[in-house]
Amino acid sequence: MAKTENSIMIVFGASGDLTQRKLIPAVHSLGCEGLLPDRFNVIGVSRSKISDKGFRVRLFSGVQDYSRSDPKICNLWKGFETKIEYLQGEYDQEETYDELKKKSRNWRRTSRLDQMLFFTSLFLPKCIRSY
Ligand SMILES: NC(=O)c1ccc[n+]([C@@H]2O[C@H](COP(=O)([O-])OP(=O)(O)OC[C@H]3O[C@@H](n4cnc5c(N)ncnc54)[C@H](OP(=O)(O)O)[C@@H]3O)[C@@H](O)[C@H]2O)c1
Repeated sequence: MAKTENSIMIVFGASGDLTQRKLIPAVHSLGCEGLLPDRFNVIGVSRSKISDKGFRVRLFSGVQDYSRSDPKICNLWKGFETKIEYLQGEYDQEETYDELKKKSRNWRRTSRLDQMLFFTSLFLPKCIRSY
């Protein structure tokens, strides 16, 4: 399988079960298998108030419990988690997308990311249209 281009992945429903138990553990496994691009950033979006650190801790717990690749053996997480950020916001509020644009612009400027990937466990057309 070929690596994708350098990317920023925006995850709506970031505080939810699907993100913690399936999505991020799967991304972690891809990274451990050498299938993530050199530059790959994640911005999680949902309404709960969570710090970047709290979000990373929560995701790591999902990785420990559900990833195909054991994080004790694969040394990915320490570097990978620095590329993960959280944004508190409602998917149907304009300000959420303004903030998202600011955050993603920062990453795109510093990391020369080529494409945006959207993952959502919410109503997809609404999220993408608003962005
Ligand atoms: N979990 C699975 O294994 C699984 C498997 C297959 C399919 N699915 C489907 O995937 C979907 C999500 O499942 P889930 O288990 O992750 O559900 P969940 O745990 O209830 O998560 C829903 C997510 O959406 C966020 N959210 C809800 N309303 C929002 C709003 N107005 N603005 C921004 N964020 C909002 C919630 O965060 P806040 O409350 O913090 O905003 C939470 O992060 C469901 O349709 C489910 O049927 C789940």
